[in-house]
Amino acid sequence: MPDQKPKFYLTTPIYYTNGLPHIGHTYTTVVADTIRRYKRMRGYDVVMTTGTDEHGVNVERAAQKAGIPESEFVANMAEAWRKLWDELGIPADEFIRTTDLKHVRTVQWLFRLCRENGYVYKGHYTGLYCIYDNAFVNEPKPGNLCPDCERPLETLTEENYFFKLSAFQKPLLDFYKKNPDFIQPESRKNEIISFVEGGLKDLSITRTTIRWGIPVPGEEPHVFYVWFDALTSYLSAVGGPEYEKRGYWPADLHLVGKDIIRFHAVYWPAFLMAAMLPIPKQIWAHGWFLMDAAKMSKSKGNVVLPRPIVNMVGMDALRYFLLREVVFGQDGNFSYDALVTRYNSDLANGLGNLASRTATLIEKNFAGKIPKPAALLPQDEALAKDTQNAIGEVLERYEKLEFGRALEANWSVVAAADKYLTSEKPWALSASEADQARKATILWTTAELLRIVTVLAHPVLPDSTAKVWTLLGQSGTVAAFGLDGLRWGQLAPGTALGKLQPLFPRVDKTEAIERIEAMTEEERNPAPAATPAPAPAASAPAAGAAAAAAPAGTAQIGIDDFTKVEMRVGEVKTAERIAGADKLLKLTVDIGTEIRQICAGIAQFYEPEKLVGRKVVVVANLAPRKLRGVESNGMIVAASVGPDGRPVLAGFHEEVEVGARLK
Ligand code: MSP
Repeated sequence: MPDQKPKFYLTTPIYYTNGLPHIGHTYTTVVADTIRRYKRMRGYDVVMTTGTDEHGVNVERAAQKAGIPESEFVANMAEAWRKLWDELGIPADEFIRTTDLKHVRTVQWLFRLCRENGYVYKGHYTGLYCIYDNAFVNEPKPGNLCPDCERPLETLTEENYFFKLSAFQKPLLDFYKKNPDFIQPESRKNEIISFVEGGLKDLSITRTTIRWGIPVPGEEPHVFYVWFDALTSYLSAVGGPEYEKRGYWPADLHLVGKDIIRFHAVYWPAFLMAAMLPIPKQIWAHGWFLMDAAKMSKSKGNVVLPRPIVNMVGMDALRYFLLREVVFGQDGNFSYDALVTRYNSDLANGLGNLASRTATLIEKNFAGKIPKPAALLPQDEALAKDTQNAIGEVLERYEKLEFGRALEANWSVVAAADKYLTSEKPWALSASEADQARKATILWTTAELLRIVTVLAHPVLPDSTAKVWTLLGQSGTVAAFGLDGLRWGQLAPGTALGKLQPLFPRVDKTEAIERIEAMTEEERNPAPAATPAPAPAASAPAAGAAAAAAPAGTAQIGIDDFTKVEMRVGEVKTAERIAGADKLLKLTVDIGTEIRQICAGIAQFYEPEKLVGRKVVVVANLAPRKLRGVESNGMIVAASVGPDGRPVLAGFHEEVEVGARLK
C-alpha cells in the first residue's frame, strides 16, 4: 500500500564553504530539525534538506590559499559541515552540495527553461573590478579601492547572461497578494513588497571572469553566478527535473536568515515563474543571534561555537535555549550567562527535577509502578484541565513557529506541577488506606502531567524526552507518538517505571562558562596535541603550545632556519593544573630576562609540585596563544618517548645558567 501520509518539505539555506558552522547556522538548522520532528509527530512524511554552497570567487581564493584544488577544498568543507550536523543530531534527510552532479544538471535545466520561455538574454555587465583578486566588487572602499586588498579598482565590462527580473514586478506583487502567508513574518513581507514596488532591475546570472562555477552548456567560459546556482539547490535535492516523481516539490517552507530574504522572496519565485514551475509555499525569515549586539563574524573574533556548549550542557539544552530565548523572527543576544541560567532553572530545576521527584516518589510508595488514581479533588481536576488546555496551546504555537511561546506554555505546566506537589505533599502522607489512596491520586496526576509535557517537549528536547519516556515505562518511542492523539488520562496504572537516568545535572555557572569559553578558544585556535605525536625516541619535540613532532623524513632545514628558533634555559617557578584540561599544566618560568607563563601538555606525567625549581628548555620566541583559555607564552621542550609519545622534559646534567641560549 502506498504511503498515504501528507508530504512536507522544508529547507535551511545552503551554507557557504569558506567558513565553518557557528551558532547562527546551528540556529537555523535546529529550527528546521524541530519543525521536522514536530511535523512527523503530526503524521507528515517530512524531508528536510541542508547543504553547502560551494562555488564562487571566495572558494577559489580560499582553496588557492590552502594550496589545494577547489574540488578537494569544498569536499573537505562539506564533510566538516555534514559531520557537525550528524554529531549534533540534526542531520539532513538530503544533504545537497552545489558541486553534486544532480545539482549541476538541475541548474542547467532551469536555465534552459527560462531561456526557452524568453526570460534570459545575453548582455553586458559593467562594474568595478579588482584585477588582483579577479572579482567584481559591489561595495568598494572610499576612493574606489578593493575592500579586500585595498588596491585601486578598474571599470570592466564583461558579457553576461541576464535574467529578465523586470518582467516579474507585477506577477510577483499579484502572487504576494494571492498568497498572503508566502513571506513571514509580516514585517519582512512589507519590506519585500515595497522593494518590488520600487521597480526591479534585470539580473546578471552568469560570469566569464570566474572559473569555479557550473558551466553554462555550450556557452563556456560562462559559469552560473551565485544565486541562480544556490537557490536551485532546493529543487535539486528532491529530484530536480524529475521532481514530480518524488512528490516533495513545491517546498512547504524555506527557512532563511533575514539577510537573505530578498533572494528567496523575489528572485527565487521569479526564476520559477519564468520556468513555469511550482512556487514554494512559504519563506520564513528569522533574525540573527548577536554577540554583544553585533553580528557574529570570524574577523571580529566573536563567533560562538556549538560543540563546546554541547560538551558542557548537552545538545538539548542548546536547542532549548536557542528556541526559548528569542522570539522567532527577531534578533536576539547570545550570552553564555543566559544559557547556563536557563539550563539550571528550566531544565535542571524544572523538567529534570520534576521527572526525578515523580519517579522517586512512585518508586518509594508504589514499588515503582504507576498507581491507580482514587477520588479526585478539585485541585487534581484543575491541574488536569490546565494540562489538557496546554496541549492545544502548545500545538497552536508550534504550528505558528512560535517556539518560545510553545515552550513557555509547556513549562507553565511544569511549574504548576511543582506547586501542586509542594502543596499536596505526598511525602507527608501516612501509610493509612485513605492516605495511600490520596498519594496514588497525586502521583498518578503528576506522572500523567509529566508524560504530556514530555510528548509536547519532544520536538525541542529529543534526547532527554526519550529518557523520560523510558522512565515512565511507556512503550514505543516518544518520537512516534501522534500529537493529534495526545489527551489527559491516557497513562495506564500498573505500568512499571524504567530506569532513572540523569537528565540535566545542575552546573556551577561560573565554572560552566569558563569551561565553555576555554573549549571555544581551543576550537578557534586548535592546538596541536598536548602530548607530541609519536616520533623517533631520539627526537626532542616540544610539549607546549606547538608540540607537533617533525615526522620522520621531513625536509632538511638550513642553519638559518634553525637559528630563528630561540631556545633558552628556564627555571620553573610555579606549576599548577588547569581546571577542565587534564593534560595541561600552567607554569611560570624564569627565562633570565623575564618570567613567562607557559602551558605544557605534561600534566599526566609530571606532578606540578615536583617541577618547581627544575631547569627546562624553553622556546622563547614562539607567538603567544591561548590553550583552554589560558595564555601560553612560549613552549617547553620534551622528548616524545614510546608508542604513546610520553613527554620527557629536556634537561641538563650540570649546572646551567638561567637564560643561556641553546645553539
Ligand atoms: N549560501 C548562502 C545561502 C544560499 S541559500 C540558497 C548564505 N550562506 S551563509 O553561510 O552565509 O549562511 C546563511 C544563513 O546562516 C543565514 O541566512 C542564516 O540562516 C544563518 N546565519 C548566519 N549567521 C547568523 C546569525 N548570527 N544568527 C542567525 N542566523 C545566521 O548566505
